Amino acid sequence: MTEKDFIPAVSFNILEAGNVHAEAPSNIALIKYWGKYPGQIPANPSISFTLNDCRSSTTIAYNKKDKENSGISFEFLFEGQAKPEFEPKLQTFFERIKKYLPFLENYHFKIASSNSFPHSSGIASSASAMAAMAACLMELEKRHHPGITPEYIAMKSSFLARLGSGSACRSIAGGLVVWGLHEAINGSSDLYGVPFPAAIDEAFQDYQDTILLVHSGQKQISSTLGHKLMDGHPFAQNRFEQANRHMNEMKAVLANGDLEGFVKLVELEALTLHAMMMSSSPYFMLMKPNTLAIIERIWEYRKETQVPLCFTLDAGANVHVLYPAIYKDKVLQFIKNELVVYCENEKYICDQVGTGVKIS
Ligand code: PMV
Repeated sequence: MTEKDFIPAVSFNILEAGNVHAEAPSNIALIKYWGKYPGQIPANPSISFTLNDCRSSTTIAYNKKDKENSGISFEFLFEGQAKPEFEPKLQTFFERIKKYLPFLENYHFKIASSNSFPHSSGIASSASAMAAMAACLMELEKRHHPGITPEYIAMKSSFLARLGSGSACRSIAGGLVVWGLHEAINGSSDLYGVPFPAAIDEAFQDYQDTILLVHSGQKQISSTLGHKLMDGHPFAQNRFEQANRHMNEMKAVLANGDLEGFVKLVELEALTLHAMMMSSSPYFMLMKPNTLAIIERIWEYRKETQVPLCFTLDAGANVHVLYPAIYKDKVLQFIKNELVVYCENEKYICDQVGTGVKIS
């Protein structure tokens, strides 16, 4: 599919009024996306687990406007409250996508969204939020063009979500999702995420992600600015090549059920992401002392017990602890006994791999 395939060719009838609703999960990258080109094109491919319980739930009520094609018009409530600070991001999103959804300018939208996880937890909510928005809007496109196929809807939902927040395009499908063109991954694209199309050993079917909430404060730097700092970063080219090599290695790890290889690759990716932040100009550091304390304790525990748990990090201080479901009781005991002391207010969230977006 090319970008042009997402521009609808046919005319449509304008509807009077109605509601669409979607729920979309967050995702956690195993191979990280950090650095992009204009038009939300990733500088390297990435792969993530789609999560299950950390979700955004969004309803869009649409009402036909008196004047056709009269610009974008919307109101936004987050958990029942007006959030003017989110409006510019939504406005930009609508402006970027109106070419692909020409009906948008005929309606006034009332958007109401909420998250299943605390907003101030430091968990990035833009992925689930933008994926839920995109899924709602594709449900609306289906009402204008009932003939569109589920495959097209999935691809275009991801394509639109990407234009809201890059990593959001990996929150439409479930399981393992790849975003970014890679020669060894059939069907991969810079324009949208696709379910990982090759063999996956059953060891990776039921992965758990326990998110240790280390720091809930405002991020020191937005991901938009973070990506920008990869332009002209002295190590950027090597990093992008490394991520491409890591995708090949991950493909083999997933096929072979190689848990040891998985642990090494995932932790190397997390630390490389943060190394890029620490070596950009200006430099910045998102890990906190407790992030490091947790990482060290995970390394010791893995050595002592041979339990193949590992950590990964987003653009923040929280630690995602990843492990197969058979170790759940053991790992949760370890977390309660030894890691919660490093969490803000002893808070953590138990999540697991899920099935992706839900429309209702
Ligand atoms: O989707 P963005 O622009 O917020 O970027 C997120 C990037 C990371 O979360 C740090 C890595 C990733 O691949 O999800």
